[in-house]
Order: sequence, then C-alpha cells, then structure tokens
Amino acid sequence: MSGVLVDGIGLLVTNDPSLGTGPLGLVHDAALVLDEGVVAWAGPRSQVPDGAASERVDVGGRAVMPGFVDSHGHLVFAGDRTAEFAARMSGQAYSAGGIATTVAATRGATDAELSARAGSLVAEALRQGTTTMECKSGYGLSVEDEVRSLRVAAEHVTDVTFLGAHVVPPEHAGEADAYVDLVCGPMLDACAPLARWVDVFCDRGAFDGDQTRAILAAGMAKGLEPRLHANQLGHGPGVQIAVEVGAASADHVTHTTDADVEALAGSDVVATLLPGAEFSTRAPYPDARRLLDAGVTVALAADCNPGSSFTTSLAFCIAIAVRDMGMTPDEAVWAATAGGARALRRTDVGHLGVGARADVTVLDAPSPVHLAYRPGVPLTTHVWRGGQQVLGPR
Ligand code: NIG
Ligand code: FE
Repeated sequence: MSGVLVDGIGLLVTNDPSLGTGPLGLVHDAALVLDEGVVAWAGPRSQVPDGAASERVDVGGRAVMPGFVDSHGHLVFAGDRTAEFAARMSGQAYSAGGIATTVAATRGATDAELSARAGSLVAEALRQGTTTMECKSGYGLSVEDEVRSLRVAAEHVTDVTFLGAHVVPPEHAGEADAYVDLVCGPMLDACAPLARWVDVFCDRGAFDGDQTRAILAAGMAKGLEPRLHANQLGHGPGVQIAVEVGAASADHVTHTTDADVEALAGSDVVATLLPGAEFSTRAPYPDARRLLDAGVTVALAADCNPGSSFTTSLAFCIAIAVRDMGMTPDEAVWAATAGGARALRRTDVGHLGVGARADVTVLDAPSPVHLAYRPGVPLTTHVWRGGQQVLGPR
C-alpha cells in the first residue's frame, strides 16, 4: 500500500462540479487520497475507502484547494528596477521602454545567475501554493540570449513561451520591421524547438497589429501555440487578433471595447487578467465583471516580472480582483486555479478530480474566501506538488 490520505479537510475546493456543490465543486468535511503523483480519491471523509493510503496527514479542519496555476510569468531576467517603480509612485508613467533596462542586465548575466533567479522565484511561488507556472523569454532579444532564456525557463517550468517579440531591442531601434524579420526567421528557427507557446507584446511602444499577425503566423507554422499580450497600455488590435488566430489566451485585456468583449465571449480564448501590473503601474484595473457577465472565461495570473508586476502572489491578485474588479471570491479562486489551467490548455492541473496531478494547497483558514478577506496574510500551510509534500508539517 502507498499513498497519502489528506484528512480533516473542513472545506475542499475540487473545481469538479461532479464531486461537490457549485462551480468550485465544494465538499465539506472532506478527504483526499494522493497516490503515485495523482489524486486517487476525493470526497466526504466519512466515505474514504478502507486502506486507501499508508500515510495520513490531518489538516485540522482547514480549507484545501488545487494549487494555483499561474499562467503568465517573465521569470528569466537579471537586474532590478526599483528606481523605476519608485519614480512611478512619485508620478511618472509606465512605458514599455523600461524593458530595455532588464534586457541589458539579462544579456550581461551568466546562465547560472539567470537560473538561480528563476528558480528562487518558482520556489517563492511554491511556498505560497503555486504549483504550475508558465515562463516566457523576452529579456534576451537576440538569437543567443533568447535561446538561453528558454533553456533556463525549461529548467524550472513545464510551459515555456517564446517572447522574442517583447519590444524592439536598442540595436534595432528605428528598424522594427528588420527586427520582426529576425524574430520570424533565425530567432524562431533556433527557439521553436525549445518552447510550447509563442507570445507577442501587441501594444503601444511594442508591436502593432501587422507585426503581431506576422510573428504569430510564423510561430504557428513552426508548431507553437499562440497566446498574446493584448490591450494592456491602451486600446489596440490585440484582443481581436487573439480571437482571429485562436489563441489560448489574451493577457491583460485592460482596455476593451464592446466588440472586443463580444469577440472573446464568442470564442474559446481565455481572458487572463494580471492585476499586479495595474497595481504596480498605478493604472485602472480591467473590468472582470463585464467580461464574466458577457460569458468570457477569465483567468488570473501574477505576471511576475521586474518592471510592471514584481510579485509571485496569486493570493494578492485574488484580493485585488475581488476588491476592485468585480469578481466574487469564488470566481477569483476558480480563475487562479482552473482558469489558469484553461489558459494553458492543461487538463491535468487546476482541479482535484480523480486522475488530476496531486497539486494541493492547504490554507490556514476555514474557506478560500479568506484569500481576499485577509489580504497580505500568508495563509498557506501545506503544499503537495505531483504528490510530493513540499511544504508543511507531516
Ligand atoms: O506583462 N507587457 C509586457 N511585459 C510585461 C512588462 C515587462 C517589463 O516592464 O519588464 C508585462 O507587464
Ligand atoms: Fe507579461
């Protein structure tokens, strides 16, 4: 006999409506059996099958939920942009141009330095209950530096995204089309085998609609799946392009027209909202309520990066989404778990149905509503990733 019985769960979020009540599939007085890296059983503790596990961990009536799925991160970088943040907080506006500061630092760092930094961010997120992360390149912006960024990303996460089209790097200033040719040609040739996804920063100060279409088409021709930074800094064609190409996700979605919302609602594209970016750039938050009421699938992600959102905390994002974006606590919890999984087209994570990866987060709280109700409080007490306990007492 093997496996671990997670017992004494006051409230279990399964995100599987067949297992419990509502969209979160809630079960009171629950238990979980984790075996060989997956969920072997989930349900009321009165019904745990006999001899289901060799080890038992009692979580003392706490709330238990799937690990967070953070579907948007820029974790491979060097350097620091504290001064830029401080200047913004004294009134300066955010601009995509700040990315160049991180590009210079990243190019000057060794692979080992980049890997140590990315690894420490993944570990920081894990301690807060995030068990799946996506990671983009995009601070290399040369063939060699994008290749090594993707290699470093793959050491730490399963979902790796090629973002050679983050901004036009300084050595190509004034020749954006030549840079797009480099991205679509030699850079993609070298990078496509190292990534699952292709992303473009389609926005003011980054890439326009035609450039975005060309880069996504080239990436898709190489077998990469599209996702997109869309409508963060102003209104633009990003959301419509995401729908046109059948992207997994349009990310940011801060400035939208009714036509954008309708297009998303009529598609399978997830709107991934990144409130850490609006928080740290002092910009208006996206209107999650409007998207949800129109029938759009919404995810929440941290967008961890040194420029616009230097946080790994999905709990922080949930608190903002509930307080300022019109989401209910349940919607926000779903968006940071099952929603993130949808945005990554993953069926193995974001829920605790039988067969799901055994990614489990325990909160020192009676319900996940406390993620928003107790903002800034570290509530995570235990974490299992792939069935291995990585945090908490046994
Ligand atoms: O998602 N939008 C583009 N990329 C990042 C910002 C990166 C930076 O400022 O370094 C974002 O917010
Ligand atoms: Fe981003």
